[in-house]
Amino acid sequence: EKGAYPYYMLKEIDEQPTVMRSLIKHYTTDDGSVIIDDALLDSMKKADRLYIVAAGTSYHAGLVGKEIFEGLAKVPTEVHVASEFGYNPPILSEKPFFIFLTQSGETADSRQVLAQVNKWGYESLTITNVENSTLSREATFTLLLYAGPEIAVASTKAYTGQIALEAILAKRLGEEKDVSAATSFNVARELTTVANGMQELVDEKGQYEQIAANALATTRNAFYIGRAIDYDVAQEAALKLKEVSYVQTEGFASGELKHGTIALIEEGTPVIAIITCAKTAKHTRSNTQEVLARGANVINIVSRNLAEDGDQIILPDVHSLLTPLLAIVPCQLLAYYTSLQRGYDVDKPRNLAKSVTVE
Ligand code: F6R
Repeated sequence: EKGAYPYYMLKEIDEQPTVMRSLIKHYTTDDGSVIIDDALLDSMKKADRLYIVAAGTSYHAGLVGKEIFEGLAKVPTEVHVASEFGYNPPILSEKPFFIFLTQSGETADSRQVLAQVNKWGYESLTITNVENSTLSREATFTLLLYAGPEIAVASTKAYTGQIALEAILAKRLGEEKDVSAATSFNVARELTTVANGMQELVDEKGQYEQIAANALATTRNAFYIGRAIDYDVAQEAALKLKEVSYVQTEGFASGELKHGTIALIEEGTPVIAIITCAKTAKHTRSNTQEVLARGANVINIVSRNLAEDGDQIILPDVHSLLTPLLAIVPCQLLAYYTSLQRGYDVDKPRNLAKSVTVE
């Protein structure tokens, strides 16, 4: 029940620190070791490549998952949109392992791919929020998000839950493969830092309401930009804003803007830059200069350790593979407030259903 909350979306955004803590509780012990089924680990260890298959927000959690699995477990990882994979599968590696990310466990596009994977005889894992869902039953293995029901159509806590669980799994897999990035990564401690950081962010809601009112409430279009892991977040942030506020929004690789799309920048166009990746921060900042020079209304969302004077939204510092867990929170809140300011029912955006069970 949404209790004192006006909308489920806000409740679910607020629940994200709890989701982090619940994952720590379900998947780690007090001494920091990770509990993952041995049979699942054995199967993943044998794989020469991971294929993450998902739709929508879960696909975006997969994009971050690629960084995490490659960073912590050093296993090459591909991420595919389920509806594309279905009719146009890539050439597979010798020993593929499939990971389906799905909040509902019922998405038809993903089910279709899993049916094909089963026909091919490959093993698979479904990461889902719904026990006994179809994708859970039909995959070889399941890991549950324990995030509590997600009622709002726009997915929030499932996204952050999926990323956190990918980190837990990648830590254990990397440890099994003796990858030093994984052995030195204390996932319970890192996710606790994330939970605390998320709490700081959701406690500062008024700030985002104000930014939404100034920059997004009446705009025709908007951009989220970023590079590397920040580009992954930009894509999810754009989906969130467009689906609940109907503002046409693109999530763009910031270096790619100048290759055509910059033509859309006008006086006042909101361009929200995500800057958490140290390697690319300087380059994204130079892209914000390019759009500023064309009149854009630039808003920077920046990790504390990379912050400069004038940055509008500052994120608590966390492990470099986990920054999406924090960066997405202000973006979810910006989407939420923009929708309300435009007078929409944020929990039930037009044309959408909670789970898409048709192809
Ligand atoms: C966006 C959203 C959708 C779902 C997508 C996949 O906020 O909710 O994009 O993420 O339909 O759904 P699941 O994760 O249930 O497979």
